[in-house]
Order: sequence, then structure tokens, then C-alpha cells
Amino acid sequence: MPELRNASIPGVRVVAPRETQAGEHRVAITPETAAKLIAAGLDVAVESGAGVAAGYPDPQYAEAGAVVEAETTALWSGAGAVLKVQAPSLAEVGLLSPAALLISFLQPATQGEIVEALAKRQVTAFSLELLPRLSRAQSMDALSSQASLAGYKAVLMAAMRLGKYFPMLMSAAGTIAPSRVLVLGAGVAGLQAIATARRLGAVVEAYDVRPAVKEEVQSLGARFVELPVELPVEAAAGQGGYAGEQSEEFQARLRELLGERIAAADVVITTAAIPGRRAPLLVSREMVAGMRPGSVIVDLAADTGGNCELTRADEVVEADGVFIDGTANVPSTIAHHASQLYARNVLNLFMHLWQEGEVRLDFEDEITRGSCVTHAGQIVNERAKQLMGVPA
Ligand SMILES: NC(=O)c1ccc[n+]([C@@H]2O[C@H](COP(=O)([O-])OP(=O)(O)OC[C@H]3O[C@@H](n4cnc5c(N)ncnc54)[C@H](O)[C@@H]3O)[C@@H](O)[C@H]2O)c1
Repeated sequence: MPELRNASIPGVRVVAPRETQAGEHRVAITPETAAKLIAAGLDVAVESGAGVAAGYPDPQYAEAGAVVEAETTALWSGAGAVLKVQAPSLAEVGLLSPAALLISFLQPATQGEIVEALAKRQVTAFSLELLPRLSRAQSMDALSSQASLAGYKAVLMAAMRLGKYFPMLMSAAGTIAPSRVLVLGAGVAGLQAIATARRLGAVVEAYDVRPAVKEEVQSLGARFVELPVELPVEAAAGQGGYAGEQSEEFQARLRELLGERIAAADVVITTAAIPGRRAPLLVSREMVAGMRPGSVIVDLAADTGGNCELTRADEVVEADGVFIDGTANVPSTIAHHASQLYARNVLNLFMHLWQEGEVRLDFEDEITRGSCVTHAGQIVNERAKQLMGVPA
């Protein structure tokens, strides 16, 4: 680990390129955050069309005082700071000027090659996945803002596919019983899924390995599923409020115990995740076969391997009459508000670094140290190295 010296980058042009990853509709600077950056004395440029898919057309940026740049290469090479949603491609890294600042999701676990290229290019890159979960970092917490939107949208996706009404309905033709929704994983996405399903009138129950969430689940009007399982300490309490390591044996026991609850559900929303690891396998092929035909699983863990054995990322699979929706990047399907919140998260992290007219990198600060991945030609983050499998 190199000795990290505090550093500063003087007056910068802050830019947002158009996202190039397929299916990515979000943008990292909105007209609102452009105006805030400009009010703080910064020069802002966005690539022409960058906000269109999220409902922020070019004229709104121009009105906010930002430059709308038609030339991709000019935008990247003239940038002091690039604010992005997805990690840049290798070609995009090649466009960055050395010593530029980058803030985006970087996914060091799967994008090691990009992280190495950023280091080689001398870029100072921040990864939003690695932001420490401190209360003073909450306004920068893009994982939470995006997970919350995903939890909401997952319920709507399930409701659209389910051939049933969500609420109880009493009509002249008789009474319809409410749908039953089971939410597995009651973190940020799961809690929003519970709240949304309840608002639509479903009967909701939820399970999480962290017993601490029981009260939150109940306060949203859902039942907390209690399982007679001895939780290994490491499963319930990982670092920073996350769940920790779970053995295959433990996951098999959970599947055994959850079988009955899953068979009783019309909709299962799965959100269970363990940071930096494959998502736990909570719904097996046999459990899907035990569900009523027409039931729906929306697997928000699809991007990290899926909580259901049959999930295929970015596909809807039908098995035994049950639909398993593995739509990837769900926040992007609600791009306007996802961008609004994401852009504010990124702005708050940037303004945390922006002091008295320059970017100041104070590596004694937990937020900076925790989320800065590359600086001065090195990978400077131990957690990123761990996720990339680089020896410490
Ligand atoms: N700034 C802060 O202090 C801050 C910010 C955001 C979240 N948090 C805390 O972190 C928690 C988790 O955050 P997240 O939603 O991003 O986590 P996450 O996306 O990593 O995981 C989602 C949920 O899945 C659960 N899970 C993991 N394995 C499971 C299994 N086998 N069965 C059932 N559930 C399982 C986890 O406990 C978690 O609640 C939040 O609920 C909150 O308490 C703190």
C-alpha cells in the first residue's frame, strides 16, 4: 500500500458524458445539479443528448448555464472531473486527461481491468459502491437511492405480470382475496418493495437474515417471517449494516425453511445480497415448481447471480407456469427520478471534495479514503483490491 499524501486539483471543468452501456438511461448531472455546480463557481459541460433518455433534454442544461458539447472526445479530454453512472469503457479511460477526477459506480469486483487502466492513466477515481455507510455520507449514498427505486419498480413489474388483483375487492360478483407478496431481503430495496406492495393492497410478509429489521418490516404493515434457524453470527452481522458471509449449508437450510412461505405467495420479490459475493440462493428449481402457476418472482439480485436458481439476468424465464423476471439495472427503467437522486448523490460527494476552489483529497477522511479507488498511478483502496483479487 503506497503512502497516501493529501493532494489538491485546482479549478476544474465538470462533465457528464452520455452513458454508453446498453440499457443505461440515467445521467449523472441533471439540469438541477448543473446549476448547483455552476453556482459553486465550476464550469459544467454535458454531452449532447446525455439526459434525453432520462427526460432532461439539452436545452434544459443550456438554460441552467451548462455547455452542451457535441464532440465526445473534446468533452472527455477537456474534463477536470467526469461524473458518470456506469464505469467508463477502456476506450473512454483512454480519453481521460491524466490527473482527472472520476466519480461513478466502478464495480471493482467485475471491472478490475478498468480499475487498473484508471490507475495507469493516473486518474483519481471514486467508486460509489465503496462509499462507507456513515450517517454523514447518507446524502451521497447512491446504492441506497437506487435500491429504493428498484424496490418500488420491482413490485410494479410483478403486478403487471400477475394475472391477479393486488388488493382485496368486494364487488357484486363476489369477493376477490388480496394477493400475497413475499419479500426476501429487507434492506433498502426490500423495505421499499414492502411499502409499495402494501400501498397496492397486498398481504405482505418478509424475511431477512438480519433480525434487526423485524421492527421496520412490521412498521410497514408486513409480517416478519421468523425461521427456526440458528444464525451463524457472521451471516447476520457483516460490516456496515450489511449481511455477512453465508455457507452453502446455511443457505440450504434457509431454502428448506422458506419453501412453505414461497409456495403460498403469488409474488416473490427477492433482494438478498452479500456485498462482494454471489447473491445467496434462496429459491431452488423445485421451489419454483411448488408455486402456483401464474405466480411471479422478480429477482433484484439478478445482476449478482440471482436469488433464484432459474433467474437469467435480463430475461424473463417461464418455468412450470411461474414467471421469473431477472430484469437487469431496474433503476434505469425509472431513469428520470433515478437520475435526479443519483445526480444529487454524486454532487454531494463532489462538493465534499471541493473546498475553496479546488478538489482536496484528504485521505484521513473516512469518506475519501473509503471510496477513492485509484490515485497517483496506484490502486489505493484495500477493499477494491480484495474485490479484484489483487494481493494486498
Ligand atoms: N448510511 C447508513 O448508515 C446506511 C445506508 C444504507 C443502508 N444502511 C443499512 O444497511 C442495510 C442493508 O443495506 P442494503 O439494502 O444496501 O443491503 P444489500 O443490498 O447488501 O442486501 C439486501 C438485504 O438482503 C439481506 N440478506 C442477505 N442475505 C440474505 C439471506 N440469505 N436471506 C434473506 N435476506 C438476506 C441483507 O441483510 C439486506 O438487508 C440497510 O437496511 C441499513 O440498515 C445504512
